[in-house]
Amino acid sequence: MIIDYEVIDRIAAVWDGTPSATIPILQKVQEQYHYLPPEIFPYIARKLDISEARVYGVATFYENFSLEPKGTFIIKVCDGTACHVRNSGPLLETLRKALGLSEAKKTTEDLLFTVETVSCLGACALAPVLSVNDTVHAAMTPEKASALLEKLKAETAKPDFPEEGIRAAG
Ligand code: FES
Repeated sequence: MIIDYEVIDRIAAVWDGTPSATIPILQKVQEQYHYLPPEIFPYIARKLDISEARVYGVATFYENFSLEPKGTFIIKVCDGTACHVRNSGPLLETLRKALGLSEAKKTTEDLLFTVETVSCLGACALAPVLSVNDTVHAAMTPEKASALLEKLKAETAKPDFPEEGIRAAG
């Protein structure tokens, strides 16, 4: 994978190269790559003059950071109480089945889709809900979930789909 180290340099500069830049840098890298590629750890450590273990410690402390590659589309199915009682289970099953995923295998081989569960998306009144890259989809049914998946797949097939350029470059 080609890493844009300039992004790290820019954020480190804003924070005067202090260790306080660790979290903003990790957030930006994850925003860009959907996870924290291993090659960034030694670079950040050198840049901020801290140990690699310390950077790794921050990355593993916050559950929002991921050390595993994730898909371009991160689908979070809410399985909190309000969503669960309104049948979030079948939504999850539908998505996993359509993408060949499971509880253990959360991301497709082509790195297009990740399916995860969350305990509440803060939209209980609209249950059952799921989010795709932080856009919430309300009152979902298995049928609506399938249609959404088809729409996302169609997006990736478009020639100007931005991730195509990134993958081709990598
Ligand atoms: S329980 Fe699903 S949004 Fe709150």
